Formats: sequence, structure tokens, C-alpha cells
Amino acid sequence: MYEGGNSSCSEGPGHVAIIMDGNGRWAESRGLPRLHGHRRGADRVREIVEACPELAISHLTLFAFSTENWNRPVAEVSGLMRLFRRYIKKEGARLVAEGVRVRFIGGRERLADDLRALMAGLEKQTERNNRLNLTVAINYGGRDEILRATRRMAAAVLAGDLSADDISTATIEDHLDTAGLPDPDLIVRTSGECRVSGFLPWQSAYAEFAFVDTRWPDFTVEQLAAQIQRFGQRERRFGAVAG
Ligand code: FPP
Repeated sequence: MYEGGNSSCSEGPGHVAIIMDGNGRWAESRGLPRLHGHRRGADRVREIVEACPELAISHLTLFAFSTENWNRPVAEVSGLMRLFRRYIKKEGARLVAEGVRVRFIGGRERLADDLRALMAGLEKQTERNNRLNLTVAINYGGRDEILRATRRMAAAVLAGDLSADDISTATIEDHLDTAGLPDPDLIVRTSGECRVSGFLPWQSAYAEFAFVDTRWPDFTVEQLAAQIQRFGQRERRFGAVAG
């Protein structure tokens, strides 16, 4: 959450969020099925997660599936859901052992029961870890998140547990999926598109953005390190003047 003041970025982006775009095009340009691109994308996730501690990244948030991604062909959607299951089953033990705390953001009601159970299980298994905070956005949309938060606040007001006059930015943050997490410092989007596609709209109010041409399956730890170095040269003023 934003705490005000200037910052030279020299401390580095403690919280990096990534829109992992370009898996489909990566595969299509090689004459491969789109799911092949997603599988290669999952390999990149493992490498980037492993590299975070040495890059001084304490929080990594990944956009894995948006509320709009349900509109893709059924086979691609179910292939992605299989990939999430496999990732949790295959990588779960390693994440636990490496001290990674995993959280998921996004609406869960539309996800299959077994996937939801795997997600909740991994969250529970890793809840005491703190070497890296990994947040994975599945069925996530920023407007949907704000809508769900608003409904919860309205229900609390109706129940007499919250006064409308007492609603502050902190109250809103407490009702978002990201409650308790810091805002992202740097948001990276791969594959050349310069848009945010509903990713963390509230939380990114003061984030720095980096749009890189590389498609996600080709995105390397070195490229992430280069973005972190560039971030270090920026000056964040948070609406104030330099000084
Ligand atoms: C966007 O590329 C990517 C996705 C919708 C899926 C992201 C999923 C992964 C990287 C797989 C595994 C993730 C985890 C956390 C295990 P796109 O398909 O929109 O690419 P395109 O724009 O080239 O079509």
C-alpha cells in the first residue's frame, strides 16, 4: 500500500507483478498448438520464481488467467486449468521447501472444486513461509475484484458492522483480494502489448510499468534483471515534486 514520499527506486522493486503475455503467439509462430506455449510459459514461471530471492524481489504477482480468458476455446481453457493443477501438484513440494508463500487472487466460485482444493491446500501448506511471496491471479479481473470488494463492504454496512462514513482507502484495500500485500512497484508485460488488461487497477496507482517485446516463453531471468536495473534509474515522485 502507498505510504507517500519520494523514492529514487535505488532499493529496487520489492514487488514485481507480471502480465505473462504471448504464449499463444509463441506457439503459433512455430506451428505448435497454443497449449504448448502455455506449457513453456509454466517452465518460465518456475525459473523466474527461483530467481526472485537473488534479485531481491520479496513479492511476485503473476497474471495467469483473467476473467475474460473464459471466452477462449473450451480446449484451451481446460488445458490451462490442467496446467494449473499440474503446476500445483508438481511444484508444490518445491515451493514449500524453498520458503515460498503462495496466495491466489481472483474469484474462486467459477473454478472446479478439485482445483480450488489444491489452491487452498497450497496456501495452507505455505502460510508460514516468507522467503518469497508468490501471488497467482486466476480468474482475476480488476473490476471484478473491486465489485466483489464493494459487495462485501455493502453487506457489512447493511449488517451494521461498518459505517459508510468510515469507509476509507484502507477499508477498500482490506476488502480487496490483495489485502495485506504491498502494492506492486514494477509491472512488466511481455510480448509487446502496451495495456494493463484489468490487472491490479487499484494497486497499480503508483506502479512503474515496463512493456517488453519478448514473448513470455522466451522471457529470461536476465531480461527481468535488466528491467530491475532500469527501475533503479527511475525516480518515483508519487505525485510530489523531486527532492
Ligand atoms: C497469455 O498469453 C497467457 C495466458 C492467458 C496464460 C498464462 C499461463 C501460464 C504462463 C501458464 C502457467 C502459469 C502458472 C502460474 C503455472 P496468450 O495466450 O494470451 O498469448 P497470445 O496473446 O500470444 O495469444
